Amino acid sequence: MTTQVFVGEKVFFPFIDKVQYEGPDSDNPLAFKVYDATRVVAGKPMAEWLRFSTCYWHSFTAGGQDPFGVDTRVFPWDAAGDEMACAYARQDAAFEFISKLGTPFYCFHDRDVAPEGDCVAASEANLEKLVARAKDLQRETGIQLLWGTANLFGHPRYMNGAATNPDFTALANAGAQVKAALDATIALGGANYVFWGGREGYASLLNTQPGREIEHLARFLAMARDYGRANGFTGTFLVEPKPMEPMKHQYDFDAQTVIGFLRHFGLDGDFMVNVEANHATLAGHAFAHELQMCADAKLLGSIDANRGDPQNGWDTDQFPMDINDAVQAMIVVLRAGGLGNGGFNFDAKLRRESVDPEDLFVGHIGAMDSFARGLIIADRIERDGRIGQRLAAGYASFDEGVGAKFESGELRLTDLRDFAAANGEVPMLSGKQELLENILGDLMFRPSK
Ligand code: XUL
Ligand code: CO
Repeated sequence: MTTQVFVGEKVFFPFIDKVQYEGPDSDNPLAFKVYDATRVVAGKPMAEWLRFSTCYWHSFTAGGQDPFGVDTRVFPWDAAGDEMACAYARQDAAFEFISKLGTPFYCFHDRDVAPEGDCVAASEANLEKLVARAKDLQRETGIQLLWGTANLFGHPRYMNGAATNPDFTALANAGAQVKAALDATIALGGANYVFWGGREGYASLLNTQPGREIEHLARFLAMARDYGRANGFTGTFLVEPKPMEPMKHQYDFDAQTVIGFLRHFGLDGDFMVNVEANHATLAGHAFAHELQMCADAKLLGSIDANRGDPQNGWDTDQFPMDINDAVQAMIVVLRAGGLGNGGFNFDAKLRRESVDPEDLFVGHIGAMDSFARGLIIADRIERDGRIGQRLAAGYASFDEGVGAKFESGELRLTDLRDFAAANGEVPMLSGKQELLENILGDLMFRPSK
């Protein structure tokens, strides 16, 4: 630990130079035990499958404040001077942290990067200054932008929604912000642009016309798409589902809702889905379920990798350390052939009680190791083949004969009747869930396979 990997104006994380892969026998809390960026798994280096990303908001702007108490972590970059000085210092801290951690990507909201000004033009100017500097820092460090987005939920003007606000003035302000955030994303070569509909929903039907608001949302997204495409954005637009919080009902409830919405409004050529694990939990779904819905629809764009708490209904945004969850997720990703333009963005925050500067490294390291482990085990499961074979065998009756004719649309309802009448009772084929779970559990701990 002698040379600094990042030569910034300040060294905010002096206790480490660069997180290294030390292998499974290391006890070093600041080293990877599993994630080895160059190790090839299922034909691609781990770094390519996983495309990890650090998020700006939880890591560098959120000090642990909750509805009951103030920040527990005091960030040195927040003491740099006025709001712009703090923004520059935060940028130094972010690039230093990300370089040392080794995620190849990062993500931000406009307001994480630059403070809001007192009018639209002032906000645009603030963002442009920080974006110009981010360009230099990206070039210097090799870190790339996985996605940009606009914070359309924090300011009081968005209390009734942004693109779905009943007041056009608010909607227009949201448009101004998205234009500037898209300009920033394009300038920084962002691979994706995200819409998370934080306040796009409602609390009461007594003051809301949901049908009209959903039409507005679709029109707004189409306008953003048209602007982005006309100005050189070749990446993917993403919608991130979440069923509730902050609103009681959110229009982007879950993956299937978003898939239906995108298809209904003809947005599915440009838009895909950004699946967040904790949002799946809130919708009453497993993380892997949401991923599978998107993969089947060919709309799996990117992942916000975190974890909820099964015992409560909040968006706890914990670092994802649950290996079983990671394995189930990686099976879907592996079978889908990867995330393409997308990546694994850690939309995760430290617990309020985790106040040491090294905790931010420890959280990310554990999460990266978990998904690396998930990838290795998912590949082992695929190579073992027993689970995949049983999955295919369960549908064998559709692979030939009348079943195949049904799939290709050659049968009528009367054909089903005649088949049922001629073939008697349905065979009782076991679903074998316990056996499959046993195989999965066994393969998790059998590196020899
Ligand atoms: C909130 C959330 C957001 C989005 C980006 O629950 O997930 O951070 O990922 O706006
Ligand atoms: Co998210």
